[in-house]
Formats: sequence, structure tokens, C-alpha cells
Amino acid sequence: MTGAESASSQPAQARAADAPKGTGILRPPTGAAHARIWGVGGFRPERVVPNSQIVELIDSSDEWIQERSGIKSRRWAGPNDTVVSMSAAAARDAIAAAGIETSQVEAIILATVTHPYQTPAAAPIVAEELGLRCAAFDISAACAGYCHGIAMANDMVRGGSARFVLVIGVEKLSDFTDATDRSTAFIFADGAGAAVVGPSDFPGIGPTIWGSDGSQWETIKQNESWTEIRDQGLAFPSIGMQGQSVFRWAVWGMAPVARRAIEAAGITPDDLDAFIPHQANLRIIDAMVKQLKLPADIPVAHDIVDTANTSAASIPLATERMLRAGEIPHGGLALQIGFGAGLVYAAQVVVLP
Ligand code: UT7
Repeated sequence: MTGAESASSQPAQARAADAPKGTGILRPPTGAAHARIWGVGGFRPERVVPNSQIVELIDSSDEWIQERSGIKSRRWAGPNDTVVSMSAAAARDAIAAAGIETSQVEAIILATVTHPYQTPAAAPIVAEELGLRCAAFDISAACAGYCHGIAMANDMVRGGSARFVLVIGVEKLSDFTDATDRSTAFIFADGAGAAVVGPSDFPGIGPTIWGSDGSQWETIKQNESWTEIRDQGLAFPSIGMQGQSVFRWAVWGMAPVARRAIEAAGITPDDLDAFIPHQANLRIIDAMVKQLKLPADIPVAHDIVDTANTSAASIPLATERMLRAGEIPHGGLALQIGFGAGLVYAAQVVVLP
């Protein structure tokens, strides 16, 4: 029996114990004891699009959209706004808020589903825009992308693979929205939010509760795959959504996830200073507030009203706005939860920068 055969037939612990023989012992990675968010930033495109400019193509009304979703208006990217340019703007804002030099950023995690290149990722191009040559990669976790990025950045800072990590949530959903689709045309919008995660003397990012339900992958998706588009000569794709199915999953499934994140952080709902859920629908947000029995006076992100659903960007954009407006305290505790296409979700309690 060869070494490899014998190793593969052993349980994992036995293989790990055998590994260093003759190869030396690797230096273990060392990182900070804790991590926290140092600063957040945002970019909102200039173009404001009220419901009145959407309704005609979907046979809807301002009243219906407001009643069903809470949305009054949204921002759409201008011709020169791209996933990369919006990311760079939000990143610069977050770096300034964090009070660090750009050169101190050692990794960029960029969450998006609307970068129009299959490859390469947007993050290395954003790094170049910022004058960086650091580790840079994209993640695809849709509306939960930012919370996934915060979880990874927390682990990277503590694991020693980067001292400061830039987490960006960005979408240009207007590129992937069918203006005649009644279930998405009034919801999706554009923007970018970013956070700098770095070392800390205290735990600044609580344990992340995350997961997926791939059995529902078809409930929010690019309508056709790139190969179907190529083989069948179809038009540029849009993202479609089975609104009611996603709504039910979000309303009934996400409050228990948020509750677990509060418990995992070792606090109670009364300890929270802010609730910043993904901005998908005002009715989903209100239902979660009720189910979680949050304190009556807790500030809750309602950015959806004039920003609509910016997917991965919605949580950092709402955080940045509430901090800037003085609605939530620096150093306070915020519960954040993202959920969306996949279906996937991630939630954690963070200390506000
Ligand atoms: O960000 C990722 C996660 N995404 C979400 O969490 C979004 C979850 N889903 C939603 O937010 C909601 O499902 C929507 C806001 C998309 C839609 O609201 P809804 O209350 O679920 O509407 P519905 O699809 O159940 O439609 C209700 C009625 C229907 O008419 P009938 O059958 O009751 O006569 C629809 O035909 O409203 C009609 N309708 C519309 N009417 C005017 C559907 N879309 C529209 C529209 N304008 N745009």
C-alpha cells in the first residue's frame, strides 16, 4: 500500500497528524484578536426615478407600488456609472470614514450579481482604480452578498490573511431589469455601499448565521443562461422573480435567522440600537420587526422608500445614511440580515463604526 492509499483510507484526524513528517511544520497564520467595521460609505446615482416614470410599461400605479412595497422612488445609474465606478466611489467614502490610508487595504471582497463581465471579476479593476494591487475577488450571494462579505472579512482579519479588508456591495440592476416585467420593474435599482473591516480590541462583528435553500434556486434568477441565450439567439437577459414565493420565504424564514444571530451574539433584542435588514419590501421589514419583538423605538432602516431594492448594496447604503443622519449611534449594536437569490441568507450583529 502506498502512502497516499494509506492516507486516503484513514479518518481526517489521522491524515492531519501524519502530514508534517518530513515536510517541516508550517508557521500558523496569526491575525488580530478581534475585528470590527471601521467605516462605511456609499454611492447613490444622481438620477431619481419616481414611480410615475415606471408605471405605464407595467400597467401599475404609484398607489399600488407604495402599498405593496413601500417604494416611492429609486436611483438609476447614469450612462457613465458602472459596477466598477460606483464601487470605487463607495470604497473611497468608506476609507475616508474609516480614517485609514487607501494603501492600508490588503483585500477587497466585492459582492454583486450585475457585473456585466462573466470574467474577470470587478474587484481587481476596482483595486486598480484605487491604486491597489491587493487580493481582490467577487462573491455572488445576491442580496445577502454584503453580509457574506462581512463574515469573510471578519474571519480574514482574525485569521491574519489581511489587516484591512474592503467589503463592497454593488448593483446596477437597471442593466438586468425588464422594464415591462410587473414583478421586478418597480423594485430593482442601482447603487453601491462599502465597509472597511479591520483589527479591533473588542469583538465588533458577532457570529454569522448563514445558509441556503437551493431547492428554490428558480424563484429569483437570470431568466435564461448565457448558453441558452447563445444557442437560441435570445436577447440580453433580465432577472426574474416569483415575488410571492420569495415574499413568503422571507417573511416566515428570516425572522428565526435574525433571532439566532441575536442569540449567537450573546445579547437580547433590547440591547440593539438599530435594525438594518436588506431593503426588499417595506412589508417584509415591518413583519420582521413584529416577529422579532424589537423595542418599539428602535431605528429601523427604511431606505427602500426612496432607494428601492439595490440587492447587495442595500444594507451598507442604509447603514451609511442612518449614521450620517445621526439616527443610529456610533458604537451601537446593529442587527443586519441579507436574503435573496439562491436562495441564500446571512445575518450578524455588528458594532456600528
Ligand atoms: O431582494 C431579494 C428578495 N426579494 C424579495 O424579498 C421580494 C419579495 N416579493 C415582494 O416583495 C412582492 O411579492 C412584490 C412586491 C414583488 C409583489 O407584491 P405582492 O403583494 O406579492 O403581489 P402579487 O404578485 O401577489 O400580486 C397581487 C395582485 C395580482 O392581482 P390579482 O391576482 O390579485 O387580481 C397581480 O396581478 O397585484 C397584481 N400585480 C400588480 N398590479 C399592479 C402584480 N404586479 C403588479 C404591479 N402593478 N406591478
